[in-house]
Amino acid sequence: SYWERRVRSSARTRARAGHTVLVTGASGFVGTHVSLGLKRRGDGVVGLDNFNDYYDVELKLARQTLLGRAGVFVVEGDINDRELLEKLFNMVAFTHVMHLAAQAGVRYAMKNPASYVHSNIAGFVNLLEVCKSANPQPAIVWASSSSVYGLNSKVPFSEKDRTDQPASLYAATKKAGEEIAHTYNHIYGLSITGLRFFTVYGPWGRPDMAYYFFTQHILQRKQIEIFEGPQHSSVARDFTYIDDVVEGCLAALDTAKKSTGSGGTKKGSAQLRIYNLGNTSPVPVTKLVSILEKLLKVKAKKKLLPMPRNGDVKFTHANISLAQRELGYKPTTDLETGLKKFVKWYLNYHSGLKKYSS
Ligand code: NAD
Ligand code: UGA
Repeated sequence: SYWERRVRSSARTRARAGHTVLVTGASGFVGTHVSLGLKRRGDGVVGLDNFNDYYDVELKLARQTLLGRAGVFVVEGDINDRELLEKLFNMVAFTHVMHLAAQAGVRYAMKNPASYVHSNIAGFVNLLEVCKSANPQPAIVWASSSSVYGLNSKVPFSEKDRTDQPASLYAATKKAGEEIAHTYNHIYGLSITGLRFFTVYGPWGRPDMAYYFFTQHILQRKQIEIFEGPQHSSVARDFTYIDDVVEGCLAALDTAKKSTGSGGTKKGSAQLRIYNLGNTSPVPVTKLVSILEKLLKVKAKKKLLPMPRNGDVKFTHANISLAQRELGYKPTTDLETGLKKFVKWYLNYHSGLKKYSS
């Protein structure tokens, strides 16, 4: 069928020894950039996304168009659909799965808890069930989150720190994912690498994230609310630019392959890894706003509010020495440089003129 031809053509590798990667959440923010990065270097890429309406579906469709132009086909479907996943694995011998499909967002978990259980727990298990029986067994790289550090106050966060105090259901489902990964590695020898991303931002970003809707509201002269910690202390994030995160994802895929050979592994011998992919340079949210004011040349209408108990943590700060050592990960973009690129994209995209420039 036409559908099958498009999947097969998208999966074709164009580089010698290229990977064949299933990217879940491919029409999402990170998924789009990772898929483009893989395709650019000659890997075969098939995307999967359910195009849910957590945020503007138009933006997901625009990303899909961008991917289509680069030769990446995105299948519409849910990671909970066992039949669809089995069909894809029967058609294509995926060497790797880059699993980015999830219900993201920290505060939304109080509004729609079921969607976190559906995508981040049930969906992840369904995907692992299919991977465990696939021949060859793909190596899996998936997105955990800096939010697993929760109320941990020892900074910078390193992978060995405690993660037993999640501050949101979102964080709890990501932590659960890490435990689930352990069991599939232990029993079935699946190679699984979890990446703890730290507040990723950039062009084609997520409209539910603060940097994005602050930009929107500042331009529309609408008020923005900035959460503060105790005694008016500032809340900070280790904002990480998308291109740096993509480099980390590709390196994680490459090292996963090396350590598991062909992808088929002996029981219990495959690798199980967790890495922080952050920027090692936390910035207060107030500073994020002042950079945006400067770039947009508009003063923000700011309202400072005490941080509500809504799932947020006071600060995040990554220790990245493990990723540096094992993946060669080295972020190079500071917040101002990255936001400049985001704002340029934002103005183009929302002017409707150069929608597909990246
Ligand atoms: P995103 O929401 O833009 O992308 C996720 C994509 O997955 C969306 O396009 C969505 O439609 C799709 N999806 C959701 N549930 C699905 C399901 N059940 N079946 C199929 N598709 C489904 O988010 P993102 O920022 O690109 O995040 C990618 C991953 O990284 C997520 O796992 C997220 O939790 C994690 N993460 C992101 C950040 C960040 O700051 N962006 C930080 C830490 C972790
Ligand atoms: C982001 C993503 O949304 C999560 O999916 C991801 O897992 C997480 O990063 C992570 O790194 O693990 P968050 O850091 O909360 O979560 O990102 P935003 O929602 O963009 O918030 C950024 C900062 O702005 C936070 O400190 C938040 O408290 C603050 N904020 C948010 C405000 O001050 N006002 C608002 O109206 C909204």
